[in-house]
This record gives sequence, C-alpha cells and structure tokens, in this order.
Amino acid sequence: MFRPAVVRQTVKTLNQSSRPAVTTNTPQLFRRPLSTTFVRAQKDDKNDPLVKATTRAPGGAAGESEGKYARTDESLVVEYPDDADMPRSPVVQGRGGMHFKRTLAQFSLENRVTLVTGGARGLGLVMGQGIVASGSNLAIVDLNRDEAQESAHKLVEQFQKENPGLEELPKVTAHYADVSNPDSVNNALSEVIAKHGKIDHLVTSAGFTENFDAINYPYDRIQKLWGVNVNGTYLFATGVAKHLMERKAPGSIVMIGSMSGAIVNVPQPQAPYNAAKAAVRHLASSFAVEWAGHDIRVNCISPGYMLTALTRKILDDNPELRDKWISLIPTGKMGVPEDLMGAVTFLLSDASKYITGADLRVDGGYTLT
Ligand SMILES: NC(=O)c1ccc[n+]([C@@H]2O[C@H](COP(=O)([O-])OP(=O)(O)OC[C@H]3O[C@@H](n4cnc5c(N)ncnc54)[C@H](O)[C@@H]3O)[C@@H](O)[C@H]2O)c1
Repeated sequence: MFRPAVVRQTVKTLNQSSRPAVTTNTPQLFRRPLSTTFVRAQKDDKNDPLVKATTRAPGGAAGESEGKYARTDESLVVEYPDDADMPRSPVVQGRGGMHFKRTLAQFSLENRVTLVTGGARGLGLVMGQGIVASGSNLAIVDLNRDEAQESAHKLVEQFQKENPGLEELPKVTAHYADVSNPDSVNNALSEVIAKHGKIDHLVTSAGFTENFDAINYPYDRIQKLWGVNVNGTYLFATGVAKHLMERKAPGSIVMIGSMSGAIVNVPQPQAPYNAAKAAVRHLASSFAVEWAGHDIRVNCISPGYMLTALTRKILDDNPELRDKWISLIPTGKMGVPEDLMGAVTFLLSDASKYITGADLRVDGGYTLT
C-alpha cells in the first residue's frame, strides 16, 4: 500500500537506529536529523523554528528574516529628474574601431541605416556606437536635441580616432522626437528618411523608470511612463515596419525591454515600469508574428542592472541599494553599456537571420535565481 515518502523514510531510519551498532565510516550526523526533527515537529509544533517558518504559523513568527530579500520597500521613492539635472554620458573608448581579428561577415551592418531612439545617452548611445563600429550609418533620435547632436558629433570623432586610415566616415545624424507623441514620431521618421534615404533597423532605447509604491504612484506619472516605454516603442516599431513594407525590404528591430518585464525587482517598488517592460517583451513577440511574412524580424533585449545615468540616479539617492542589487546577481556584478554592443549587433545583423520574437536577457544571470 502507498505510504507517504516522509513516513517511509522515518520508519526506515527508526529501523536502522534500532539495529545493533555496526562499524561504519558514515558519521552519526547523517542518520539522526530526519527522525528527530520529525518526532519533535509532531510533539511541539508551535515552538519548532522550522514550523514557525511555514504557513502553519502566523506572519512574523519567524522574525525579521521573513521575506527580507524578496519584498519591496515603500519608503524608496525616486522621481525621474529634469533633463537639465541628468549627467552627460561619455562615448566609450577602444571598443569598436579597426581590428584585424577574423569574425563572421554575417555580423556586419555595412550599407545599413539604423535608427536608435533614446540614443543621446546611456545604453542607446553606446549601442549606437557598436552599431556604427559594425558598419551601419546611424540616426540618433531623442527628446534632448542638444545632447543628441553632441553625442552624434562625439561618436564620429571617436570613430575617426579609432580608425585613422579610413577615408569614408559613417554618417551619424541627430533628430528630435518625443517618442510618446505620434506626430512627433512621424516627423522624426520623415526627417531620418530624408537624410539617409531609408531605414533598415530600429533600436528602441528611449525609456525611463521611477520608484513609488503602487498605491501612491501619481497617475499622471504612470501615464507618462507608459507613454514613453510602451507607446513610444509601439509607434516607432510600427512606423519603421510600415516603411520597410513600402520598400519591400527586409529589416530587423530590437526593442529594449528589461529583466523587470520578467521578474519583480526588490526592494524598489516600480509596478508600472515592470508592467511596461513586460508589454515591450510581448509586443516584440506579437510584431514578430505579424511581420514574419514581410521578412521583418523583431526581438527584445532585456538588460539587468546596467550602470547608466538612470541607475546612477537611483543609487546616488539610495546608496544602500548597491549591495542589495549585486547580492542578487549570480555574477555579482552590474553590467556596463558596452555589454550590450555585441547583443544588439547580433540581433540586428544577418547573424541572427532565423531568430525572431526572442527575448535575449543580458542580466548576469539575475533572472535565473
Ligand atoms: N540602465 C539600466 O540598468 C536598464 C536596465 C534595463 C532596461 N533599461 C532600459 O534601457 C533603456 C535605456 O535606459 P538608460 O539607462 O540608457 O537611460 P538613460 O536615461 O541614460 O537614457 C534614456 C534616453 O532616452 C531619452 N528619452 C527619454 N524620454 C524620451 C522621450 N519621450 N522621447 C525620446 N527620447 C526620450 C532620454 O533623453 C535619454 O537620452 C530604457 O528603456 C530603460 O528602461 C535600462
């Protein structure tokens, strides 16, 4: 007859302990705990520290450890700063440029035009740099016109330094758009097409996060956040897909989601951001299916904690978060924007020709545990 495994194991262990002692190398320790724990749990349920850590005991019975590393903290509030208060991002050095190591030609983006939203700084800027180093021309689209212009200039300057022998420089242009506004998106798309003649690739990196607990989250800020992260992604992706279909040209699109689209970060509360990034991930899958017949691939990159102006602002305001964050990452490190250069180039290029609707997590293993 069926007997639960724990009872069967206990009976077996009790039988073993009633047998005459035999000489063995197995330490006594291995045989005792299961039977004694089980017997004690039966007799003195309420005071058993393990039972206190189960649903048999009321909340708080196991002390301060309960949910300690798995809960949000409502006292953490981070409001996204005005643009004037955001630090400028440098272009990175020595990561692109001329090299003589052999690599697959499929990774090349030569003769392509790539549009990167939110490309004036942070992840967008450095991904743009990787895209240019891989051979593409680039259109930086951003809310911050001056910074976009400055970054476009610095990017070409850096490229020139790293490729002194090249006669033809990449064409890098800067354009204004508020990605959450359909008219502004259409104007930017027309401007980019007028300057570059076409668009082959899109990377949607414009986005931001804020931290308020869900109940007290100001509603206008939720709408703004969804407007930029979700509607902005939607508007640019559909605009570029329409242009590709009109040209009957193949293309590929990479949307920047976040690991927050798959997990709930702790301890900073950010429900609308998490939901927005889940939406971005699923938009990528949905577009991938809708546009597969037009040879347009759509994939998502979900970064983990990367050190940019966005995360630096949160960590400057809450320095204790640094240790909590890195303690939750299996590799023990935050990423840097350069860690996305290869991922974005791979997904845009023909090296990933048969990949569409995928979510590539670049998070040091965060979402695995
Ligand atoms: N930094 C991280 O740790 C991290 C992690 C996961 C995902 N992400 C995502 O990566 C993307 C880039 O983040 P980042 O850290 O580089 O941020 P960032 O603030 O450094 O850069 C974001 C850029 O987007 C632009 N932008 C903001 N609102 C815009 C709008 N309405 N229209 C046009 N441009 C706008 C900003 O001007 C800025 O240049 C975001 O979507 C973010 O959610 C970042």
